[in-house]
Amino acid sequence: MTSPSNGLEIELVVQEMPHNIYDLNDISVTQDKICLNRKSGYGGKLIIDKVSKAYQIRGDKLVQVIEDIDIEIEEGEFVSLVGPSGCGKSTLLNIIAGLEKPDSGVVWSNIRAKGCKDHNRLLIFQEAALFPWLTVYENVAYGLRIRKYPKEQCNQLVIKYLELVNLLNFKESYIHQLSGGMKQRVALARALVLEPEILLMDEPFAALDIKTRKDMYQLLLNIWQATKKTILFITHNVEEALILSNRILVMNSHPGVIKSEHKLNGQYPRSLEDENLQEIKKRILQEFIDDLNIDVEQGGNVNEEVN
Ligand SMILES: Nc1ncnc2c1ncn2[C@@H]1O[C@H](COP(=O)(O)OP(=O)(O)OP(=O)(O)O)[C@@H](O)[C@H]1O
Ligand SMILES: [Mg+2]
Repeated sequence: MTSPSNGLEIELVVQEMPHNIYDLNDISVTQDKICLNRKSGYGGKLIIDKVSKAYQIRGDKLVQVIEDIDIEIEEGEFVSLVGPSGCGKSTLLNIIAGLEKPDSGVVWSNIRAKGCKDHNRLLIFQEAALFPWLTVYENVAYGLRIRKYPKEQCNQLVIKYLELVNLLNFKESYIHQLSGGMKQRVALARALVLEPEILLMDEPFAALDIKTRKDMYQLLLNIWQATKKTILFITHNVEEALILSNRILVMNSHPGVIKSEHKLNGQYPRSLEDENLQEIKKRILQEFIDDLNIDVEQGGNVNEEVN
């Protein structure tokens, strides 16, 4: 499985725009690439345009991991991508982040829509990517320091986001002194402090216990509503996706394709007892069973309880 090393998401942010990501506002690039598949307008915040990738798996065999993935995400949308293990979710996320090159297809990002000078608006957020030798404060400040933010501005931003994740009292602590949930909150603050417009999240809560996860859901929803970020959230936990997202995309494997889309109403907080959510959950799980022939009892985590 692809897995960026520690701190790589921060390095990504300070790089120039990755090779396969095009800015929708850059007319020269757009004209150059306009012959691509999409004939409709480019209204979305993030467009994944017929992206495919194959890997050599098991010796020489070339396996099509994802094929013709087409996704359009609107500004401020919270979209979850669910699918069984190995269907290519992280591969797709890494392509969107610019960590992997697609074999074909393009990622378009409306990253300069707000007139910002930086190209650095894409971010990958993963668990356990903190620096153990730095304090909570220093971890959150790290990306800003690399970008040479003035000290005072850096301090203000770090304090703001530590407050947002309720960790200001722990700013002098080291990572090993924190619980799993607190570490995730540091990682979230470290991502948010760079003020990316799009957050790419790859199963960020998978390792947390149920209670901590539920707290993180509420925190993430609060932050999303306060900051209006565009979020692409990857999980194999259907219930997590139901609680958090505006829209759920379901992926199939072999090859990884987008199988279906489920829109959710904009009401929060949500209860999994809600009939409508129960119905969507049933449909998604049925799709998993039909198409992948997986045993839900053994697969377990596709139907993990969060209540
Ligand atoms: N760099 C790589 N080289 C070769 N094969 C790879 C590479 N990255 C991923 N794969 C293969 O691609 C397939 C999809 O992997 P990926 O990590 O994208 O799945 P996933 O849906 O994120 O799974 P999980 O839910 O377990 O995280 C797997 O079969 C994996 O072994
Ligand atoms: Mg993965």
